[in-house]
Amino acid sequence: MIDPIAHIYQDLKDTAPYYKLVDEFYARVEQDELLRPMYPADLADAKRHLALFLIQRTGGETTYSDERGHPRMRGRHMPFRIGVPERDAWMRNMTEALHSVPQFAPHETALLTFFSDFATFMINQ
Ligand code: HEM
Repeated sequence: MIDPIAHIYQDLKDTAPYYKLVDEFYARVEQDELLRPMYPADLADAKRHLALFLIQRTGGETTYSDERGHPRMRGRHMPFRIGVPERDAWMRNMTEALHSVPQFAPHETALLTFFSDFATFMINQ
């Protein structure tokens, strides 16, 4: 099966755009009345984990699994009540964040499809 996001890191060869993406994403989460209460007060770990996960998932270094073990994302999201409104809010913030990082522009369609499918998979209510 073709995985359209598996080689993005090879194209970028740089972690900086990923950290920019998660900064932009969490800056929006900070202002989001629905999502903000779900996250801890200090977002530093959440940012780092999301950046490392995305770097790994798109073909970069495997620091995420080295530190956190198998991703098992659905299980990790079970403590949070994720319905369609939460999924849509997450997607809206991530779509805006993605548009603010030009390095991802060539991969925008593939990443939006990945995020959308993954966010739907996280729905647990
Ligand atoms: C559908 C809506 C989603 C909501 C409401 C949500 C919410 C959350 C929350 C509250 C955390 C815990 C943060 C912390 O305690 O530091 C978390 C962790 C995480 N989320 Fe999501 N998430 C969603 C979708 C996604 C998607 C689509 C992805 C990936 C594409 C993702 C990737 C992650 C990662 C990598 C972590 C850190 C896991 C760890 O290693 O502990 N999330 N999410």
